[in-house]
Amino acid sequence: MSIARTINVELGDRSYPIIIGSGLLGGEFDLSTHIVGEDCLVVSNETIAPLYFGKLKDNLGDKTIESLNLPDGEAYKTTDTMHTILDKLVEIGANRDTTVVALGGGVVGDIVGFAAACYMRGVNFIQVPTTLLAQVDSSVGGKTGVNHAKGKNLVGAFYQPSVVVIDTDTLATLPDRELKAGLAEVIKYGAICDIDFFAWLEKNIAVLVNRDSEALASAIIRSCEVKAEVVAEDERESGRRAILNFGHTFAHAIEHCMGYGKWLHGEAVAAGMVMAAKLSAIDPGEVDRLCALIELAGLPVAPPKIAADQFLAAMSVDKKVMHKQLRFVLLKSLGDAFVTSSYNDDVLHKLLSASG
Ligand SMILES: NC(=O)c1ccc[n+]([C@@H]2O[C@H](COP(=O)([O-])OP(=O)(O)OC[C@H]3O[C@@H](n4cnc5c(N)ncnc54)[C@H](O)[C@@H]3O)[C@@H](O)[C@H]2O)c1
Ligand SMILES: [Zn+2]
Repeated sequence: MSIARTINVELGDRSYPIIIGSGLLGGEFDLSTHIVGEDCLVVSNETIAPLYFGKLKDNLGDKTIESLNLPDGEAYKTTDTMHTILDKLVEIGANRDTTVVALGGGVVGDIVGFAAACYMRGVNFIQVPTTLLAQVDSSVGGKTGVNHAKGKNLVGAFYQPSVVVIDTDTLATLPDRELKAGLAEVIKYGAICDIDFFAWLEKNIAVLVNRDSEALASAIIRSCEVKAEVVAEDERESGRRAILNFGHTFAHAIEHCMGYGKWLHGEAVAAGMVMAAKLSAIDPGEVDRLCALIELAGLPVAPPKIAADQFLAAMSVDKKVMHKQLRFVLLKSLGDAFVTSSYNDDVLHKLLSASG
């Protein structure tokens, strides 16, 4: 076991550590100290549990462990699935002292976190993310929730975990397509607020795609540092945190219009970031730089074919919409994002029409 780094998310009495390392699961790492009571429910899915549930059990000492496996896929990120978790908690007689552990990618983490937030108005919750996307983004920051038939992540709560445990070895079993999707969120951090990290990614993208473990660990650490810092500053997204949604207004519309699961979240974010960069008043050379990096990561730089009116309608249910006005995260320059409701409507329409 080797812990490469512990990063704290500073949120007063709800602060928590993100522990990043290799060989944590199934090793000497003691997670039982983070289980407040005597029992826990580990929620995973049918793909991940056979790979990692047995190892995770070894980290939980003599705690009483119940488990539940959800069906796999974004299509199951629904209130129905959340109910199966609530039903299980009732069935095992869980109380306020029960800890709920999410073992999996962003889908598992988001649903399980929401169930933990709701059960008895909130029980202790631990994130053990197993995809690159979940390790660099969704497991940190406390956004939990499920999709609604009308839009992505429309139902949810801010609910922070008490610890995030990132075992970088879990990436070894992650399919290539999922690894690349995670790289989209990594690139996002460089694009929105860290041009040096962006430049580092440009140099290291080939080794990252080839799963070099040191490079991946560095990318995860820097991504978690940025996310922790932004969340600490604005936990409930009343201001700066919204920059983390760079590309996401377009991305959520792409995911919604294509049907959840067809385009991976990270793939939609990649195309969405290019669209957002094109809507920004920046040097075209910087748009090209972003496109080049996204392409080298093996990710799409253009959206799929969606009729412009359908695209726009899907964007209008975005949570950033205020007073019926769309708001976008745009770039002042590469490495410097801001949120605005003033953008060039003609450019937006051209971007949407080009897709349909
Ligand atoms: N809460 C947030 O702040 C936040 C941020 C970004 C994304 N998200 C959400 O995260 C979700 C996407 O998460 P994701 O990309 O992790 O997808 P995912 O959870 O669907 O996982 C991707 C696939 O990989 C499998 N898998 C997971 N870990 C594995 C491993 N180690 N080895 C082999 N297979 C493995 C999963 O079973 C699944 O089939 C979206 O719903 C998105 O909205 C939330
Ligand atoms: Zn995202």
